[in-house]
Amino acid sequence: MLEKEIFILAVESSCDDTSAAVFKNEHKLSNIVSTQEIHELYGGVVPELASRAHQQNIVPVVDQALKKAGITLQDLDAVAFTKGPGLMGSLLVANSFVKSLALSLNIPLIGVNHMQGHLLAHFIKDEEQDEAPEFPFLGVTISGGHTQLVKVTKHFEMEIIGETLDDAIGEAFDKCGKMFGLPYPAGPEIDRLADIGNPRKFQFAKPQVKNLDFSFSGLKTSVLYFLQREIKKNPDFIKENLYDLCASFQYTAVKILVDKIKKASLQTQIKTIAIGGGVSANTGLRQKLRSEAQQQGWKVFIPPFEYCTDNAAMIAIVAYFKYKYRYFSDLTATAKARFKITEN
Ligand code: KG4
Ligand code: ZN
Repeated sequence: MLEKEIFILAVESSCDDTSAAVFKNEHKLSNIVSTQEIHELYGGVVPELASRAHQQNIVPVVDQALKKAGITLQDLDAVAFTKGPGLMGSLLVANSFVKSLALSLNIPLIGVNHMQGHLLAHFIKDEEQDEAPEFPFLGVTISGGHTQLVKVTKHFEMEIIGETLDDAIGEAFDKCGKMFGLPYPAGPEIDRLADIGNPRKFQFAKPQVKNLDFSFSGLKTSVLYFLQREIKKNPDFIKENLYDLCASFQYTAVKILVDKIKKASLQTQIKTIAIGGGVSANTGLRQKLRSEAQQQGWKVFIPPFEYCTDNAAMIAIVAYFKYKYRYFSDLTATAKARFKITEN
């Protein structure tokens, strides 16, 4: 019997990207992302400005997503939104908008956990990606707000086995990049500059955290003290060593992360590794994981760039599975600024 075709519209507005995607079952028909550039001026996301920009962008972004998919609102079987985690004012924009759609179209409403989206993005089917990880797999969420190791046994059966005790890895990229004088978000800039630098030129502290947890604040402090010392001797130190600073920082951050993934894989005996979140766009990390995959006998899943940073396609794929399991939300569903990956 042929599977029924389900059309889902998903809207994501948890931070500073307004995004809408249309899916036919697990296939992506469109995924429109509008990134708010205004925050660059302030060196970080300004919540008040983010929610206003979402309000301006949401209607045109949804309109474009429907047009690109070649469908109309009347073709939809369900609508989905990011329930959390994220900035409250930003989350409320998609939440209210999508609820009104569900009400007026009289179709199911599906609230989605943003972090589940980052991990389940591997199940999206499109021209670039047609193979998904098999359960159980070791999920690694690495973004501006998260660094977690998650044992995923089914779509909605997840267990956090390790997480950062302080800064997230993306936060470490952004904060150290700021010290190097780079614009926000500094992660992609560090990545680009590191490519030409020497990763072994400078040594920075690696934390000694025993179990599967992480710490990135020590690395940040180590970079800060090192720069303060060197700038005293040579005020142009950063300018003259920018490439090597970026390469050495990136090398250390990637090593901290990958060493813990190795430990987790040994402990759980899981050799399928799937990464997700903004930092999974990092070239140094992607290379390191590919080489470790060969040495450790891992099967590594790295999302296409389109699904690394925030996007609605990852919300749509989770919504599709929720639709299949009939996990619907009611119209009183609230936004959750704090929301664990294990929560629905
Ligand atoms: O998942 P995401 O788009 O938003 C959050 O949910 O946080 O992740 C954003 C984070 C930022 O810290 C950004 O600097 C980092 O991902 N990032 C990168 C790269 N691209 C984005 N970090 C390192 N290398 C990259 N290429
Ligand atoms: Zn994210």
